[in-house]
Amino acid sequence: MTELVRCSDARDAAGFVAREIAGAVRADPCLVLGLATGETMRPVYAALAEDRLHHGTSWRSVTVFNLDDYIGLPSTHPASFRRFMQQTLFDHLDIDPARCFIPDGSAEDLDREAEAYEDAIVAAGGLDLQLLGIGRNGHIAFNEPGAAFDSRTRVVELAPATRDAARASFDAPDRVPSRGLTMGIGTILAARRLLLLATGPDKADAVADALRPPPSTDRPASALQLHPDARIVADQAAATGVPLPRG
Ligand code: GLP
Repeated sequence: MTELVRCSDARDAAGFVAREIAGAVRADPCLVLGLATGETMRPVYAALAEDRLHHGTSWRSVTVFNLDDYIGLPSTHPASFRRFMQQTLFDHLDIDPARCFIPDGSAEDLDREAEAYEDAIVAAGGLDLQLLGIGRNGHIAFNEPGAAFDSRTRVVELAPATRDAARASFDAPDRVPSRGLTMGIGTILAARRLLLLATGPDKADAVADALRPPPSTDRPASALQLHPDARIVADQAAATGVPLPRG
């Protein structure tokens, strides 16, 4: 069963997630952590940077694997997830750059890059904790509706809704890449713990769909129901579609 953690607002929800992550890093300095991008994650990463500054949590031996990136963007492009991670998080931590993995969407041989990414996760001992966001259409990472629950890191086509949501990060709408390189749902489900953060009214339908049984590939985030330790952390606005428990 997926547990829903209801928070009063987006700040509270991000704070909850940041405390979970910082706690996991302190409990296991060699944590293997899966990370996500998106506007939702900015306050989480800001809180982790604060934690580093004020509490000195060390990330020196932590290994991180990001979920995905666009295909065909150089890593220096302002909209690349590599750059997002560098600016919002990595630059503020004492993390070892050699331990920061992000699928390389500019690789010449993308299938090989996908396979190497899966191998690197296994070589690191598997993901201990995977952070997730959610798309308005219920996607997780770049796994769009229809993605198989046993899918692995691979090249995918982005849904029109996903490209639409990404428009603001590109100087012209037609510049939004049409493909991504993403961990699969099977890769995500293999992580020992899952933590999905959803904030704002735009995510309410996707959160309700994720929690509604039975899991269905039409609703990628509903795959979390198959995981023994998955939580969805949502603010009030994102949780409006989920009935409150009785009693
Ligand atoms: C992209 C990422 C997802 C992320 C989603 C939501 O599609 N690939 O991993 O969950 O954006 O982003 P936002 O937080 O900006 O709504």
